[in-house]
Amino acid sequence: MRTDDAAADRAASAFRERFGTDPEGVWAAPGRVNVIGEHTDYNGGFVLPIALPHATRAAMARRDDGRVVLRSLQHPDEDADVAVADLAPGSPSGWAGYAAGVVAELAGSVPGGLSVLVDGEVPAGAGLSSSAALECAVAVALRDLLGLDLSPEDLVDVARRAENDFVGAPTGILDQSASVLCTEGHALFLDTRDRGTEQVPFDLAAAGLALLVLDSGTTHDHAAGGYRDRRRECEAAAEQLGVPLLRDVADVADLERLRDGSAEGEVLHRRARHVVTEDQRVLRVVGTLRAGEDPRAIGPLLTEGHISLRDDFEVSVPLLDACVDAAVAAGAHGARMVGGGFGGSAIALVDADAVDTVTAAVTDRFAREGAPAPRSFVAVPAAGARRLS
Ligand code: GLA
Repeated sequence: MRTDDAAADRAASAFRERFGTDPEGVWAAPGRVNVIGEHTDYNGGFVLPIALPHATRAAMARRDDGRVVLRSLQHPDEDADVAVADLAPGSPSGWAGYAAGVVAELAGSVPGGLSVLVDGEVPAGAGLSSSAALECAVAVALRDLLGLDLSPEDLVDVARRAENDFVGAPTGILDQSASVLCTEGHALFLDTRDRGTEQVPFDLAAAGLALLVLDSGTTHDHAAGGYRDRRRECEAAAEQLGVPLLRDVADVADLERLRDGSAEGEVLHRRARHVVTEDQRVLRVVGTLRAGEDPRAIGPLLTEGHISLRDDFEVSVPLLDACVDAAVAAGAHGARMVGGGFGGSAIALVDADAVDTVTAAVTDRFAREGAPAPRSFVAVPAAGARRLS
């Protein structure tokens, strides 16, 4: 991983090379892994993400010709150049849509246009929120550059609206909240209903542990159907239960009412059971960490969360199941898929001296499944969105 200074220099010099002038600043925002609390955010529930050291940088300067010119070192053949007035869903599309969507949200403040150079190392399609990292880097840059009076929560909302309304992915606020609000050394305990936050100390190294991220290499796309279907099912379950959000269900026993003998009732019951039990798991994990107990105790809750995502919410894929099984069989204290699912990454809580053994066991298992070795790294909680220079 580059240091912030080296990363800022690299983005600034690439900006100069492409635009022929200095940027007015360089900003960064991280990707995330969620420790626990999956598919709870759009149900008003709890989440517990950490920010990754992997970040996206935006070097930026204002223009005076009314155009938004977007360039990415990761997508060198996909420059975008659109008049501010013409920004609209699909214009531009692809990677640039995530950045342009944020500019569109704040378009009234940037009549003269912007030059933007993007660089970063958050793996795309790995369930590690590369899209939120890009959105949040641009949002925080615009706030500073234009002197906008936006709170951190406003930045989260701007970035999330870019994803929902411009890109068309119906996600919740987990990823953008993590990218903006996380702090080094902590997990962010967020109540997505009232937006209350608590920074929970998360120093696994001190306990001789590591959080291993294993990217299965199977990609996901949240603009696609599965995620949208799950949202609809959760809304249908809440409506049938007569509550505004599944967060409002106090006890899994209250979900029995969904089982009306129909196949659909059974499906809604399982979807809702995932959400209600996942909220309970987040609270138990936070309780363990707050009390300063041995973090190994959260391992079984992570694995339970995976089983719930696999069997009740049905958003896992066989390779992620294989990853979790192999990690736990090789000595991980717990493991689960992370993010929206249908591909992407898993995390495993492992003793620090078992990182190599567990990675090798998962690699072997992937080979037997005919899959290439997973990309892997140890995640240490890093800082949220910030100005670098
Ligand atoms: C994706 C979405 C988030 C959240 C997770 C599942 O990452 O962007 O809003 O719903 O899936 O927890």
